[in-house]
This record gives sequence, C-alpha cells and structure tokens, in this order.
Amino acid sequence: MFSTKIKWVKIAENQEGLRQQLHSKNCQPIVVNNIGCLLIWHKEAFYLVKNKCPHQGIKLTGAHCEDGFIVCPWHRYGFDLKTGRGAGLYLENYPIEEREDGFYAGFEYFSWFGE
Ligand code: FES
Repeated sequence: MFSTKIKWVKIAENQEGLRQQLHSKNCQPIVVNNIGCLLIWHKEAFYLVKNKCPHQGIKLTGAHCEDGFIVCPWHRYGFDLKTGRGAGLYLENYPIEEREDGFYAGFEYFSWFGE
C-alpha cells in the first residue's frame, strides 16, 4: 500500500532571500531537493517548476512568462505556472508555501506502507 506525501524543503528565510536568488531576473535556474528547477517571479507571485520541458526534455533556461504561462524557448509551447498543463503535456511544478520561519517548496513522493 502506498500513499502520496509531500516533502517540504526550505528555500529561503524570507521574501528578500527568494528575490536574491532571482539575481534581478524573473526566471532563474536553481537546484532544490537535488532537482534542477526554475524559480520564477511572475504577476506578483513566486513559482517553482522543473527545469525540463515535457515536450522534448530540454532545459527551460531562457524561457519567458506571459499571462500566467511559462513559454519554452525552443518550440514556444506554454505551460500554466499554477497547474503545469499545456499543449497536452504536464510540466512538473512545486508549490511554494510561506511559513513563519521562511519559504518552503513541496515535492511529492510515494510512501510505501505508511512510511
Ligand atoms: S522542447 Fe519545449 S516546447 Fe519543444
């Protein structure tokens, strides 16, 4: 028997810490939980997505955001930043949660036998 759980990983002490990781850009590659991700600032919100386009598995580095979508620089497919959906594909995305002691990103994993 398995269930899906979320591992929360602290990614910044505060909002300023998140902004510093962006290096004055709106879309910056970072590694979290040993996963290559893109940290994104778009329409007054932070997003974290996997830095791997689901179309052909190429890095999304160099992508830009429009109207709530991240647009791949290679074939211009767009993926919803909140759901990851786009072009019949799914871009892995990770929730960002603000807590009293900082910002955390959530990574789903399967847990066997209630572990
Ligand atoms: S590789 Fe991203 S849209 Fe084709």
